[in-house]
Amino acid sequence: MGQRVVVRARTGDGRFSDTLGVLEALDARRALVRRRDGSLASVDLGVVVAARTVPPAPPRRLHASTEEVDRAGAAAWPATEQLELGGWLLRASAGFTQRANCAIPLGESGLSWPDTVAAVLAFYRHRDLAPTVQVVLGSPEDTQLRDEGWVAGGPGGHVLVRVAALAEVRARLAAPDQVRGPGRSGLAQVEVQLSEELVPGWLELYRGRSPGPVERGVLAGPVPGGQRVLAHVRDPAGAGLLAVGRAAAVGGWLAVAALTVAPQVRNRGLGSAVLNALLGWGGGLGIGWVQLQVEADNEGANRLYSRLGFSTHHSIAWRRAPTTRAGLAEAQTSPR
Ligand SMILES: CC(C)(COP(=O)(O)OP(=O)(O)OC[C@H]1O[C@@H](n2cnc3c(N)ncnc32)[C@H](O)[C@@H]1OP(=O)(O)O)[C@@H](O)C(=O)NCCC(=O)NCCS
Repeated sequence: MGQRVVVRARTGDGRFSDTLGVLEALDARRALVRRRDGSLASVDLGVVVAARTVPPAPPRRLHASTEEVDRAGAAAWPATEQLELGGWLLRASAGFTQRANCAIPLGESGLSWPDTVAAVLAFYRHRDLAPTVQVVLGSPEDTQLRDEGWVAGGPGGHVLVRVAALAEVRARLAAPDQVRGPGRSGLAQVEVQLSEELVPGWLELYRGRSPGPVERGVLAGPVPGGQRVLAHVRDPAGAGLLAVGRAAAVGGWLAVAALTVAPQVRNRGLGSAVLNALLGWGGGLGIGWVQLQVEADNEGANRLYSRLGFSTHHSIAWRRAPTTRAGLAEAQTSPR
């Protein structure tokens, strides 16, 4: 009693449904299970086919600082070049991915504000990249840069950093009444392969292009102080890859990224299957917490992550330096 359990029961139409929660009462006829949302399920033991205990739901790690979460997120997605300016990371990777080509303030730079901004401008201009700062929405840096005309927005401009307890997500993935997992993919055989290397077709599915040295460095290079893995699902009919994903374990976090399923096979459980494999890998390393970045307006992905137990820890955006005086003037006069 009091243990967290998942109880599988046969439903009237011959299918199965799983109930996940804390076992509150058990007698000869039924089990009472308190779900995480507070509702109480009464399961008739006559139709129960299996039951097992699952790890307790840990408290949400929402108290972790934005710096801790973003430091692990940055380490998990290493830039090919990174300079530390006090607590600011200046990252460049020949333009491959926003997060590997921006400055990330994770503490004081040790310089005055104007000198910090000047250093950021010089770093990116020297590399022919648009000077960009990753800001926590509403943070002092966000406000200050906004006031100085640095622009955020555009497609993919507002990103949620979502976190969850790894065991919680795995428990939910194993409970098909909440999310349909790999077993119900509707595909004959779904086998998620984990590899060290970027297999042919991986980047093509994720980004629609073939990899060069920079892409290989960011995605498949070493993660200093951590480990990483790449996942893929091969089309059983032999037509390339159906799904990919990547995870890195660093700083106590498993950072999942690049989860992508081929458009024609979405909503069949492949995304869940890849996530499950990546979390299994991270769980095996003893990692307790998982984080990912997802665009705020990506409804499908956000619905899936919410259902799997992810909470929004904070929101980030990328602010770009104003390119023209006109742009600066407009930014200074436009409503905010
Ligand atoms: C987000 C993404 C990876 C999800 O992958 P997916 O394979 O479609 O995900 P799943 O099938 O595991 O789960 C998606 C939904 O299908 C449902 N589902 C799973 N198996 C199913 C089945 N056999 N029959 C019907 N529905 C099923 C899930 O319950 C889930 O429902 P929900 O959307 O209501 O929460 C995919 O949509 C994608 O590649 N999107 C574009 C890239 C992207 O946005 N990536 C995320 C970046 S953070």
